[in-house]
Amino acid sequence: MTGAAVLLLDAAGPESAALARAAAMRGHQVHAATTTADGQAPARGLAGQVVTDFARPDRAVEEITAYARRRSVGAVLTANEYLTELAALVCAELGLPGNDPHLAHAARDKAAMANVLTAAGVRVPYTRFVHNDTELQDALADERIGLPCVIKPVSGAGSAGVTVVTSAAEAAAAADIARMARGRYDGDAAAGILVQTYAAGDEYSVESVTQDAVTTHLAVTRKVVTGGAHRVETGHSLPVRLPPATEATVHREVDAAIHAVGIRHGASHTEVVITPNGQCTVIEIAARLGAGHIGLLLQHALGIDVFAALPDVALGRPAALTPTAHGHATVRFITSPHTGRLTSLRGFPERGPGVPFVRWRAAIGGPVNAAGVNADRLGCFIVTGPDAAEVEQRADTLARQIRVQVDPPPVDSSTL
Ligand SMILES: Nc1ncnc2c1ncn2[C@@H]1O[C@H](COP(=O)(O)OP(=O)(O)OP(=O)(O)O)[C@@H](O)[C@H]1O
Ligand SMILES: [Mg+2]
Repeated sequence: MTGAAVLLLDAAGPESAALARAAAMRGHQVHAATTTADGQAPARGLAGQVVTDFARPDRAVEEITAYARRRSVGAVLTANEYLTELAALVCAELGLPGNDPHLAHAARDKAAMANVLTAAGVRVPYTRFVHNDTELQDALADERIGLPCVIKPVSGAGSAGVTVVTSAAEAAAAADIARMARGRYDGDAAAGILVQTYAAGDEYSVESVTQDAVTTHLAVTRKVVTGGAHRVETGHSLPVRLPPATEATVHREVDAAIHAVGIRHGASHTEVVITPNGQCTVIEIAARLGAGHIGLLLQHALGIDVFAALPDVALGRPAALTPTAHGHATVRFITSPHTGRLTSLRGFPERGPGVPFVRWRAAIGGPVNAAGVNADRLGCFIVTGPDAAEVEQRADTLARQIRVQVDPPPVDSSTL
């Protein structure tokens, strides 16, 4: 049963392109809705595309549904964080398997997310939505928030505009940064920002696929995240084996979160913090596959081809989600030690046995930033193999061999 027409909202990012390739290889005609504003070339080999303006969702729904009806599209899906609500609205309009259009905004807008997750009894950081300086000061004085706290945009992604604030004096600058970081298609509308309690513990994500409201948790992923004010994810490893009682708690919280934001057909990526005594706090949930090459990790470690499975889920067909391998995989991201110009790179691993994927994206001679947001990452490599400890050790060894030189060198304040 192949040959159905599948429409991707955005076909340009790495996960979107992988979905497009997988769907085409399975004999589907792949169409895309794109926007010129992205400035990215859509995936090659598309059967057709509708160009629309994702910043005007009402019109985008009309244009995309009209296109989809003309092409007898049988599935609509996206891997683009900013388009998950639009995907739900289009699916509902077309009567295709999709997420609840009335709740889909809650997987994007972190103020709505905090509300629906709290109402569903999910453990989340206590969150206040603030619109001006008075409300910011009120939130900082609220003993349910405390210090450190986190100040973040309502609809950001990639850690942009998120600051861990350790003193009230840092809050105004953090609030300015959060206000500037709007979602990709949000336009100029002045939105409020969020102030939340800081959840201490180790960071993980849960990768899940829901079909007809039945969820399969594919893996728990451990994250390596930089410390300090601006957190950047520098590594993902999966599958993590949590103690059974902790895993049960995590799955319960994630199931409740998936249900609360109306995910019925499709992928989800839920970020959680787990304390040493097994308490689980949901930091956020996204109605899409995890980014940062998590799809590739699932493929290499567990043999689950999530890029092939998700079009099936969107078509309402049974999807292959059972692991066919029982290995381990990790991705390590390389960041610059400081802001400057990248002058040389040595020792970056090559693709080969146990290293199925490498990607370097920073140009030699070009500007680089000290790691502050995910987009500052310079490159990455994946290591995979049957044994978790050996995979992690090999990845550590390979990472230590990489020499990144950035000029000018940082000023040593101790000599001033
Ligand atoms: N309440 C919190 N408690 C502890 N850490 C937090 C909290 N909120 C955010 N963080 C830290 O900041 C990072 C980025 O925050 P968040 O996930 O909300 O932003 P994002 O822009 O959606 O990120 P991404 O798209 O990379 O997942 C988190 O991965 C975590 O390290
Ligand atoms: Mg996040």
